[in-house]
Amino acid sequence: MFSKETYQARRTQLKQQTGSGIILILGNNEVGMNYKANTYHFRQDSNFLYFFGISQPGIAGLLDIDEGREIIFGNELTMEDIVWTGTLPTLANRATKVGIDNTFPFNDLIDYVKKAVKDKRPVHFAPPYRHGNMILLKELTGIAIGKLQAKASVDLIKAIVAQRSHKSEEEVVEMENAVNITGAMHVAVMKAAAAGKRESELAGIAQGIATGMGNGTSYPIILSVNGQVLHNHDHSNILKDGQLVLGDFGAENVNFYAGDITRTVPVSKKFTERQKDIYNLVLKAEVDCINMLKPGLPYQDVHLEAARIMAEGLKDMGLMKGDIDEAVELGAHALFFPHGLGHMIGLDVHDMEDLGEDYVGYSDTVKRSELFGTAYLRLGRELEPGFVLTVEPGIYFIPELMALWEAEKKFMDFINYDELDKWHSFGGVRIEDNILITENGHRILGNPIPKTVVEVEGLRG
Ligand code: GLY
Ligand code: MN
Ligand code: MN
Repeated sequence: MFSKETYQARRTQLKQQTGSGIILILGNNEVGMNYKANTYHFRQDSNFLYFFGISQPGIAGLLDIDEGREIIFGNELTMEDIVWTGTLPTLANRATKVGIDNTFPFNDLIDYVKKAVKDKRPVHFAPPYRHGNMILLKELTGIAIGKLQAKASVDLIKAIVAQRSHKSEEEVVEMENAVNITGAMHVAVMKAAAAGKRESELAGIAQGIATGMGNGTSYPIILSVNGQVLHNHDHSNILKDGQLVLGDFGAENVNFYAGDITRTVPVSKKFTERQKDIYNLVLKAEVDCINMLKPGLPYQDVHLEAARIMAEGLKDMGLMKGDIDEAVELGAHALFFPHGLGHMIGLDVHDMEDLGEDYVGYSDTVKRSELFGTAYLRLGRELEPGFVLTVEPGIYFIPELMALWEAEKKFMDFINYDELDKWHSFGGVRIEDNILITENGHRILGNPIPKTVVEVEGLRG
């Protein structure tokens, strides 16, 4: 948690940028997993954390711009609650620590917002993603649940994105801490990987470190010998010599900031020559793209440069052919690199995705591509100092996609389908780091995590 001055300054800026009316920032609630009292891990809403700092279920923040009031609505614990939870700081006490002097029972929120609606004052809310908050918003505003996304306040969305996109120095300290915990997870997994172990044993090691050093993971662990499945959460395979194992996982630190790192390692102590060729190509794309990063550069250009680097290398290996600039322009590389180069990261692993990807990642001058692969790029806009983003190129051999494109005779001028037959069981390689954009360039966050072939094999030995 930061000082109350930090939260006060953030709210002041938010009110100024949003203009008039009331701003409603709903916190999250407990959600029952299989019955009401057996709940999922509680995670506070990131906008609430950013502007009100309190991680507690069942509370909401309201900024009345017109009347200059800042309120947190929520119920204090009853004696019956305390029997089960023990004594906790009161909500009023916690609110004071973030610079809020007004706390009211949760139900007072209903009258407050309903009156604002009746008085025809603007009620600004962000697009809800939890069903409980959708139901509450419907009750507060009278807007049908199906229309809440469309009726969310664009002024508020833009004001939040403008602030949260630029990480302050104290936020960067937190992000660096999240990356360092994430690094410890990766090093432990790299050391433990061995033929005969189940993927779940390695995932358990990563999970244990994330829980022990922070709040757990910042997203469900991706760890698989089937690295070609981009978001593979199945951990049931037994590792075999000769395979690659791709681990994409990160920690959420105690102040709720996310790390998101990927490493790919051989199950055997060393990479095969073929694995090394693909690995070094992905590594070149990652390192060269990181080296390009600086303010003013559209990230879409960096994505396309990664695609060109990898397509050139695949051409040298006989998997692609023809004019590589043209191949990338038409999207032929997406057979091997079907996702975006990276995304913003902060309190959310895909930062602010709840507010709308295009508000976060695109601008008036950079629009999202419609091409398969490039369309998945979540961040395309011009970079600015204070942005923290991921760089995560990958090369994958996806048997289903290769078979489909070959059957459709797609991009016959650019892809050597005959060569692909030898690569069906290769899997995939992805390498990912988290980068801060500085005034003049960039900085890779966290202590270095083994990445070159020599470094990875050194750790495996
Ligand atoms: N961990 C998901 C991603 O890299 O975007
Ligand atoms: Mn990742
Ligand atoms: Mn990522």
